[in-house]
Amino acid sequence: MSYLAKNYNRKKISFKYGKGSYLYSINGKKYLDFVQGIAVNSLGHAHPKLVRAINQQSKKLWHVSNAFTIPEGENLAKKIAKKTFADYVMFCNSGAEATEASIKVARRYFYSIGKPKKNRILCIKNSFHGRTLAAIFASGSKKMTEGFGPKVPGFDHIKFKYSKPRFPNLRKKIKKNTAAIMVETILGEGGCVPIPDKCLKYLRKICNEKKILLILDEVQCGIGRSGDFFAFEQSKIKPDIVPIAKGIGGGFPIGAVLMNKKVAAGMIPGTHGSTFGGNPNAMVVANTVMDVIHKKSFLNNVKKNSHYFYSQLNKLKNKFPETIKEIRGRGFLIGLQLYQDQSKFIKKLMDNKLLTIRAAENTVRILPPLNVKKNELDQALKIIDKVCADFK
Ligand SMILES: Cc1ncc(COP(=O)(O)O)c(C=O)c1O
Repeated sequence: MSYLAKNYNRKKISFKYGKGSYLYSINGKKYLDFVQGIAVNSLGHAHPKLVRAINQQSKKLWHVSNAFTIPEGENLAKKIAKKTFADYVMFCNSGAEATEASIKVARRYFYSIGKPKKNRILCIKNSFHGRTLAAIFASGSKKMTEGFGPKVPGFDHIKFKYSKPRFPNLRKKIKKNTAAIMVETILGEGGCVPIPDKCLKYLRKICNEKKILLILDEVQCGIGRSGDFFAFEQSKIKPDIVPIAKGIGGGFPIGAVLMNKKVAAGMIPGTHGSTFGGNPNAMVVANTVMDVIHKKSFLNNVKKNSHYFYSQLNKLKNKFPETIKEIRGRGFLIGLQLYQDQSKFIKKLMDNKLLTIRAAENTVRILPPLNVKKNELDQALKIIDKVCADFK
């Protein structure tokens, strides 16, 4: 009997410990973990630098209120600002909080320049920005919003199509009261679908033209997962606001909103807050994650290894054309799209000691740690090959 609420369909397996790319179950089995907490453990399990950082900090100071200056948070914000488009950073604890706070920043900006009615956010229908009330209505998915009315107002929706035109009738959807467009740079839950660079450029162009803001949700695809520190970097555009979470904490709960100077001007004292946001433990871990990941050599390695993995996966697609429909994604946010429901396939991978997770459109999502080794990728490929061969 479990006293946990039934909002998850949990698998009957638990783990005792993890090391790098592997998880060890309480009944003594070893799994190759290509879920990594859904793109959270960017450096794998128990990375020695992260273990050291949390051990040292936990002996000094666990928590102080944001009423005081927190040097570890100042350090991290400075590091992020120096290395990215951001001028300012605001910390919170999760992805949904970061996307909600991003919406607040956008609305507050227009309020602060005397346009309070400019407050609507245009999002992709059936995208994913988290599970808070505003975030589910931002995604507009029937499945996520059903039973959670009344509807949170303030969101409009556009379609994102896999084929061209990707954003049909986008211009028409932008109204006088639209404040921002908010999209995931790579749709993660939606099936590992990158928004092509050309489309990102188009979004930026339209936002400039209409004098509205561009929010790129990099909660899942950011922090090196795409092979660039941010997935949008490849397109050479700059967003106004970027929510992040997951990978920046390497397994420690943290979220943040990155913003440029223009929009940050609206966030005066009292406009937002979070008891735990900027917690010293979270800050030192994220500082260490930044130090490891934000290096050209590290990111080049993600690119090199992920290219290798894609090329091998595409070989498997050619070998099993009746099972694998498409290989999607970028970097280590990989989707193996099947012709049929993926649950059985994921179960078979797990029976063969490879952990993966589902995404929309019959997609098996594969999320190795960013520092995964080539022999571990080969091990995963072998398992996928075997499961494809047995799969009917
Ligand atoms: C793109 C995106 N935004 C927001 C979220 C919500 O993050 P969290 O579960 O930490 O609230 C997720 C989580 O999967 C996500 O993938």
